[in-house]
Amino acid sequence: MTDRGSELAQDFYGRWARLYDLLARRTPGIGTLRRQAAAACRLESGDTVVEMGCGTGANLPYLRERVGPDGTVVGIDFTRPVLEHARDRTAAYDNVHVVRGDATAPPVAGDVDAVLATFVVGMLAEPARAVDDWADLVGSGGHVVLVNAARSKRWYAPPVNALFRAVVVLSTPPTTRLRYDPDPVRQLDERVESAHERLRDRAAAIAEETHALGVVRLTGGRIS
Ligand SMILES: C[S@@+](CC[C@H](N)C(=O)[O-])C[C@H]1O[C@@H](n2cnc3c(N)ncnc32)[C@H](O)[C@@H]1O
Repeated sequence: MTDRGSELAQDFYGRWARLYDLLARRTPGIGTLRRQAAAACRLESGDTVVEMGCGTGANLPYLRERVGPDGTVVGIDFTRPVLEHARDRTAAYDNVHVVRGDATAPPVAGDVDAVLATFVVGMLAEPARAVDDWADLVGSGGHVVLVNAARSKRWYAPPVNALFRAVVVLSTPPTTRLRYDPDPVRQLDERVESAHERLRDRAAAIAEETHALGVVRLTGGRIS
């Protein structure tokens, strides 16, 4: 949690926490997407679910709805200011816990039924390894669900991807060298692809959906 990339990411999300929170909750269609992501975790009442990189907690109420009052929801993020939003958002629930920690070495032990990570793996240097660790955490029969944005592959992709590139460039924490080295869109595509691919390899039953003109993809899997 101390390398330069992590520090820059925390600084970036810390500074923009309030704006990010608005986007995370008010972007058209985002509520439906978060509800579908929570549904793909295939949770039952009383289950335990961990959200990696929970940000300002926009998914946490949907997860709490799924596990009910007897379940447990844990949100993990390494950026302090976003966690304050997440804590405010979930203050009414005593079974939702918001914890500061690294999603690649999550501070959780015991039975976990599902892991959700939305718009996070693109920030990880080794996304496939993180997916492996999350799959190991839930174990056989547990669920891992990833939601991420990457370039669209649809026939009408060029204008969509031009807009996507602008959003990615504006929302990418600067790297230690040049802001655009490596190209943030290509790096995001590669990381997202490798994470979703690894989840498909590790899972027996797969749910795949695309949203937002093919830019947003959801992969959910039951770990075999
Ligand atoms: C784009 S935001 C997504 C937040 C949330 N999942 C959502 O859907 O709104 C990415 C979040 O991941 C967090 N994050 C990135 N890498 C992380 C890591 N290694 N450990 C913990 N949190 C991390 C950032 O602090 C940030 O809050």
